[in-house]
Amino acid sequence: MKKIMITGALGQIGSELTVKLREIYGTANVIATDIRSNDSEAAQAGPFEILDVTNAPALATTANKHGVDTIIHMAALLSATAEANPVFAWNLNMGGLMNALETARELDCQFFTPSSIGAFGPSTPKVATPQDTIQRPTTMYGVNKVAGELLADYYFNRFGVDTRGLRFPGLISYAAPPGGGTTDYAVEIFYEAIKNGHYSSYIGRGTYMDMMYMPDALTAIIQLMEADPAKLKHRNSFNVTAMSVDPEEIAQEIRKHQPDFQLSYNVDPVRQRIAESWPNSIDASAAEEEWGFKAQYSLSSMTPDMLQKLKQKLAQPN
Ligand code: SER
Repeated sequence: MKKIMITGALGQIGSELTVKLREIYGTANVIATDIRSNDSEAAQAGPFEILDVTNAPALATTANKHGVDTIIHMAALLSATAEANPVFAWNLNMGGLMNALETARELDCQFFTPSSIGAFGPSTPKVATPQDTIQRPTTMYGVNKVAGELLADYYFNRFGVDTRGLRFPGLISYAAPPGGGTTDYAVEIFYEAIKNGHYSSYIGRGTYMDMMYMPDALTAIIQLMEADPAKLKHRNSFNVTAMSVDPEEIAQEIRKHQPDFQLSYNVDPVRQRIAESWPNSIDASAAEEEWGFKAQYSLSSMTPDMLQKLKQKLAQPN
């Protein structure tokens, strides 16, 4: 990775990844792109271009203009939004990915795109979900993710494009909020704990999903992209995770720092159904063995950091 273009750079992952990559690879060497701009550091403190990833010529022209050797393709709809707009989700998630892969092929770029725990479905083994297993998701997002994993493998096998990917769990972060995911409750709970001392969860008690703190997600992307290709047997879509939690466990951890915090439930049937179709906990041993993945943050070490950073952020005038 010497000159990197990121799509969806103002989203939950992209906005922090852009800043971190600029620290490591140099500000001028990380081109952030998104469908719209904002006043974030990712958009303002380095190269930034407006880019609609469904516009194939625009994607190719932007990458070509900056002479990039790496494309990190983040632009996509998350699970709940995709469920509400399945045709748009197909067009954006698959069309954007295809355009980005084609540009990577044409310009001989290294390529990263995230998959998700959403690539699994109700017939997948629910506990310690293996790297290679049944993938019959029942959401549009999941269909997109499975197709994306296969497409990225295809571009490697057929054209030799150096594609790599991770199956992310829910990502917990304080910088940019997630938009329209099923795991978003695990971020909202921290915002509401600080703002109101109370959170009403749309995911039910006892519903377990994997989660990871954003610093671990960023490290995992960089580590995988820098990994020796000879050691990668899977390449696309390694299971990665740091914790398997339900709303109650997060609330208990928050209470260690904020004893009065209260959790109640107002379950959203759509997102609950999606959550129940996903694994309770995934097995990340292939990532550990093939490129040394190891999460630094557990629920108990993440919680005080998240509360402290979010308090600082919410205290700032904007
Ligand atoms: N965080 C994503 C979602 O909930 C899962 O990959 O949609």
